[in-house]
Amino acid sequence: MSGNPEVNPLDNLVIEGGRPLSGTIRIHGAKNAALPILAASLLAEGKVTIRNVPRLLDIEVMLDILRDIGCQARHQDSVVTVEPAAATSSHIPETLMRKMRSSVFLMGPLLARFGEVQLYQPGGCAIGERKIDLHLRGLTALGANIREKGSRIVCTARKLSGAEIILDFPSVGATENIMMAAVLAQGRTSIVGAAREPEIQDLQQFLNAMGAKVSGAGTDIITIDGVSSLSGCDYEVIPDRIVSGTVMVAAAATRGEVTLENTRPDHLTSLIHALRRAGVQIDIGNDIMKVGSTGRPKAVERIVTSPYPAFPTDLQAQVMTLLALSDGVSIMKETIFEGRFKHVEELCRMGADIRVDLNNAFIRGVPQLYGTNVEATDLRAGAALVIAGLAAQGRTVVEQVHHIDRGYDRIEEMFRQIGGNIVRERNASKVFS
Ligand code: UD1
Repeated sequence: MSGNPEVNPLDNLVIEGGRPLSGTIRIHGAKNAALPILAASLLAEGKVTIRNVPRLLDIEVMLDILRDIGCQARHQDSVVTVEPAAATSSHIPETLMRKMRSSVFLMGPLLARFGEVQLYQPGGCAIGERKIDLHLRGLTALGANIREKGSRIVCTARKLSGAEIILDFPSVGATENIMMAAVLAQGRTSIVGAAREPEIQDLQQFLNAMGAKVSGAGTDIITIDGVSSLSGCDYEVIPDRIVSGTVMVAAAATRGEVTLENTRPDHLTSLIHALRRAGVQIDIGNDIMKVGSTGRPKAVERIVTSPYPAFPTDLQAQVMTLLALSDGVSIMKETIFEGRFKHVEELCRMGADIRVDLNNAFIRGVPQLYGTNVEATDLRAGAALVIAGLAAQGRTVVEQVHHIDRGYDRIEEMFRQIGGNIVRERNASKVFS
């Protein structure tokens, strides 16, 4: 079976809140690791098998693009197989490109494989401008010639050659794109000021499993020695640290006790630190964690989102829900994306007391949130509202669930497994309007 057939843009999540979450849950594979790995599978000459791939809309869009350019790709349960040899086109259609920003990951692998790639600007998005200048500058340094005409980008390279590339900002996507282009380039590439996220380490391991020579991922200098060809491989993606984090915050916000399996506590150090400061109990094993809370959380004076290993922007909204229920005043500063406070207005509609000034949110904790109709404006904002609904008194309806489906495999089933009263319903007023 492929995709997530239950997903419909008209869906709502209906949550009866106020029950402590309790039980054990297994965390699915990481979307942000699987997406570049799927793109990198294009570099192999043989069949690639990727395990622990979540069933998410973004993953299906990536598979659709791979099929559109000629690859065979199947997604059965959590295993994806890609036969990249059959790919014939290096042109990504605008309609597919616009569906997902991560389609930009195909630029490096297509350029390395075909010597040219034609695609379109991924466009703006709800959380901010999200430029791709660092991707383009990195590929240019490797020898690519880039022409932009309106939203169309044409990238060509007779030959890619290793280079030293200095990133002004540790962009996750740019680091990954450059790594994927450089593995088949001639000579050595160094990426200085590289992003250090666990997903970059996962990409390095995947590329090396195909026969590449990449080292240094996890530090800010990545070295790639070009090889002449890459073979197929069998690889398992890391667990999703943002899904783990979302469940941890939900356990704390509902004052429950949840055990997470197939998780990587070492990828969540900054969140664990923040939650412990809020008074949350966390027991850590190798790939397991128990998270519990009995009382009202404590305010956390200041949390600042920053590139890994600092506090992740992708957990800012969820943790804000917890702080909205805390005893005291907390400050959350967002430094990665400029438009990432859209959940604040919705949380305030549920009774939260939060004021935003530029990229700072001042959160005065309240004892209780109250259910109402709210809108998921983007993926992580949506997750924050689901947590708020689980913790709130009364009934919460979260609209625009398709945003949440981009990053969580059937979030309602995930939370039902640990006692959440949450169902997916078709929005009847929209169906008939
Ligand atoms: C990835 C993650 C996303 C996460 C983000 C930051 C994936 C699929 N997505 O996104 O979930 O929120 O990292 O941890 O892995 N920038 C530029 N020029 C560029 C590239 C980026 O100015 O060429 C800026 C962006 O506008 C943004 C910041 O850098 O303000 C971070 O972007 P980046 O690290 O590239 O994030 P993504 O790879 O898009």
